[in-house]
Amino acid sequence: MTAIKDLTDGRELVMVSNRLPVDRVTEPDGTKSWKTSPGGLVTAVEPIVEELGCVWVGWAGSADEQIDAFDEDAMRLVPVELSEEEIAEYYEGFSNATLWPLYHDVVARPEFHREWWERYKAVNARFAARVADEAPEGAVVWVHDYQLQLVPKMLRELRPDVTIAFFLHIPFPPTQLFAQMPWRRRLIEGLLGADVIGFQQVGDAVNFRHAAERYARVHSLGNTIMVPADDGTPTRSVVAQEFPISIDANAFSQLAKRDDVKSRAGEIRAEIGTGRRLMLGVDRLDYTKGIPHRLKAYGELLADGDVDSDEVVLVQVASPSRERVEAYQQLRDEVEGTVGRINGAFGSIKNAPVVYLHQSFDRREMAALYVAADALVVTPLRDGMNLVAKEYVACRNDEQGVLVLSEFAGAADELSDALLVNPHDIDGLKAGLLRALHMPLDEQQRRMRALRERVFDSDVSRWVQGFLGAVSAAADQRTQDERA
Ligand code: G6P
Repeated sequence: MTAIKDLTDGRELVMVSNRLPVDRVTEPDGTKSWKTSPGGLVTAVEPIVEELGCVWVGWAGSADEQIDAFDEDAMRLVPVELSEEEIAEYYEGFSNATLWPLYHDVVARPEFHREWWERYKAVNARFAARVADEAPEGAVVWVHDYQLQLVPKMLRELRPDVTIAFFLHIPFPPTQLFAQMPWRRRLIEGLLGADVIGFQQVGDAVNFRHAAERYARVHSLGNTIMVPADDGTPTRSVVAQEFPISIDANAFSQLAKRDDVKSRAGEIRAEIGTGRRLMLGVDRLDYTKGIPHRLKAYGELLADGDVDSDEVVLVQVASPSRERVEAYQQLRDEVEGTVGRINGAFGSIKNAPVVYLHQSFDRREMAALYVAADALVVTPLRDGMNLVAKEYVACRNDEQGVLVLSEFAGAADELSDALLVNPHDIDGLKAGLLRALHMPLDEQQRRMRALRERVFDSDVSRWVQGFLGAVSAAADQRTQDERA
């Protein structure tokens, strides 16, 4: 394997994402501090930035706050300011009430508002301008995710010397759904400003290439899209290909081996009650994650008498997310109502069937929960990848435990030794949960070994090798073309 540091061939790296890897928080007493941002992005790219160092351009998570660039370990963090209106219309609006539901198979209804689109363009332009100011000559600029799809084209116009990579962490929808987007051609053209566009799954890359052919009238051959230039310069080629993201499997495995983590796992097991089986759910509180489906299936198992709260507990970690967006508020009400009803109907003074935690935990506590859990239940209706599933597998050094995984998570493509379920099929989901609870040890081991092999083999360094390898090849090609 090529060392990470050789992958960019000495070119400097600039990361661009909606959020910086750390979020600005204001404590109740008014003091300010920083905490790790939500979502899997930071965990995934941590090993790369630690080794390569980078400039990272992103929003600090607070409103109307002007913060100077600052250094943090190997990174120079460059905050982009967002106003209250921009947070409402660019972030909560176009990013999370238009693009997010549209790209996740319309599991909630996307809203299309022209003011949101104007705001999205304006904020993307600000990000592009900030990157143009910060990027060293000839750098590799790596733009992340759906909030910034216009940045590649905007940046190319400002800084033709840099190589631009884009990675979409969420699914790219089928053309029939993407067709609803009033500004579909503009989004495609925005992305086509990149040299390499990475997707989670083959299906996402295929969907994008179809959409590009239809709406931007470009041609593709295999993974390569030919983009004619309108200013008479030669046609550019853009690679649009899948590079499934992963985790630093070894780091999780090592964490799970630590004495403090093991003893915390022991405490958790003692707290839920000796002999009770622990099923775990870990999600951002998001309507794509299928939490109501999971609770419905579990509630029915309790009602049918197939599961008894003295013997089983479901610990559901639901970390707070996008709390001002209406669909998230409705989901929270629904989930909390259902948890209350299940606990009210089937709990006892000693044992509640659901332990619901609307909180975020640090990595150490998560590893302890993974080690303690007899099964991890991941039931999204649609998910780009789902790194939680991979984290659970990496932490199971004992080769035990069962992964119940939705077919609609990107991770299902690789983790076919999990118990695969369709969350819309409540009877099938109930059967999956029961099977997980009663799976014999030898079957658990056989499946977990196969899962671990896959997760350790395709870990984050493989992802980086693949993606940055393609970016580096594109950069070399550009240099050659310029010389010719
Ligand atoms: C997902 C997205 C990320 C996003 C994260 C947290 O993982 O792919 O782009 O940062 O969720 O969501 P938030 O809206 O809080 O940034």
